[in-house]
Amino acid sequence: MKFTSSAASPFKIKSDCIIFISKGNLECELKNLDEALRDQLITLSKVTNFNGKKGSLKQIYTPTMAFKQILLVGIDGATDKQKEIDVIESAAEQCVRVGANKIVWLDCRRESAPLWIASIVAQKIFQASYNFEYSNNNESKVACEVIYCVKNQSGIAPVQSALNFGAAVGTGLNVAKKLGDLPANICTPSYLAEFAQTLAQGVPFLRSTILNANDMELLKMGALLSVSAGSVEPPKFIEMHYQGGNQKEPPVVLVGKAVTFDSGGISLKPSSGMDEMKFDMCGGASVLGVMQALILSRLKLNVIGLIPAVENMPSGSATKPGDVITSMSGQTIEVLNTDAEGRLILCDSLTYSAKFKPAAVVDIATLTGACVMALGKHASGLLSNDEELANELLTSGTEAGDRAWRLPLWDDYDKQLKSNFADMGNIGGREAGTITAACFLARYTKNIRWAHLDIAGTAWLSGAKKGATGRPVPLLMNYLRRLTL
Ligand code: BES
Ligand code: MN
Ligand code: ZN
Repeated sequence: MKFTSSAASPFKIKSDCIIFISKGNLECELKNLDEALRDQLITLSKVTNFNGKKGSLKQIYTPTMAFKQILLVGIDGATDKQKEIDVIESAAEQCVRVGANKIVWLDCRRESAPLWIASIVAQKIFQASYNFEYSNNNESKVACEVIYCVKNQSGIAPVQSALNFGAAVGTGLNVAKKLGDLPANICTPSYLAEFAQTLAQGVPFLRSTILNANDMELLKMGALLSVSAGSVEPPKFIEMHYQGGNQKEPPVVLVGKAVTFDSGGISLKPSSGMDEMKFDMCGGASVLGVMQALILSRLKLNVIGLIPAVENMPSGSATKPGDVITSMSGQTIEVLNTDAEGRLILCDSLTYSAKFKPAAVVDIATLTGACVMALGKHASGLLSNDEELANELLTSGTEAGDRAWRLPLWDDYDKQLKSNFADMGNIGGREAGTITAACFLARYTKNIRWAHLDIAGTAWLSGAKKGATGRPVPLLMNYLRRLTL
């Protein structure tokens, strides 16, 4: 797929479809257009009852013109960023649906539309082109060329780089989606490790190392290993180093939970909907998606990805409720529920992350069902021990159409983790499950700038649209991009 910015007259470019983002005032929006053509378009838009209101979509066929059809997309009344992004998303979906090869993207606000809109357009067109099917003979309808119109020559270069960034994010997001959608019999910890190795192959500024069970034992990652104890799939700890900045610059570390299947272990989950626990590796997948997007965008900073990858299964060798384990940090944990496994693989990863002297550590995890109850499918949960980092992540998410919402990390909640037999239990009772899970992690990040994203609600959709979303790749990439400004 190719994205180019152009200052040429959109109606003179030979194309299959013009996407016209409009507030409904065509008279004014098309004022530079040849009069006959403008009158014709205004008449046609009236015939379709196009009013420019957000959410309205009208298709007009114009077989005799340079463009074969024009898609009118209303954006009037999109009062905040998210609503604006939702309009662009449905326009992108429609433009993939019509099967056009060459698309001209024309925004009536192009004089004032900010740069980030161009990034969103490129990202959403990639997203809309995503296709997951296990058959070899499906021909996907993917747009090949998109020409994004700018008002004048000076707009071309900055818009082009915004398009390139959005295309990188979209590609990375689709990688995360694909890995998320793969079934757990294929997408095992070993599969993810192989994937990471392949991703880094031939890329001089990306390095990938895989630690296996032996290495983890030597590092005393007892919490992580206790989760994989019941599975025949060997655990893998994936480490990726992206070097886009000066060697000495402290890196941002991303830690992604990758439980390739979460059966709950001995604290077995109920069977209904258990298939969705193949998505319990979406945190790890988002880190791989970010690495893919970094390869393409070449942001000038250093990023380390850490992905603890395990399968959580019941068996004769599985960890049992009541077992006491010792984490890499030396702190002991009473495993009161083997289904609270995400925090166990994360705590050792967070302890490990300190050795990189990171500028910040962000972990990404499908951690708690409670987060789905609290925030639904719309926002990721955000908890952090650093105000500035928290605010930066919130802003990055809002700007990228991938929102997060902050919850508190007060020590009142931390008390719920008390255990009679170890330094802490791995669960904090029924109340405030998302917060107590984060309080558990906070005990391993005392000396680092750290934030936790609970993506249990946002990483995938259920029902008719069942599938991974690729979130929060857009939030993370926007956060990293903003660090380079
Ligand atoms: N992977 C789940 C969290 C989850 C549940 C995500 C449902 C999306 C939908 C996690 O490992 C888990 O099982 N958490 C438990 C924690 C509890 C035992 C304290 C949960 O949320 O029920
Ligand atoms: Mn679980
Ligand atoms: Zn889990």
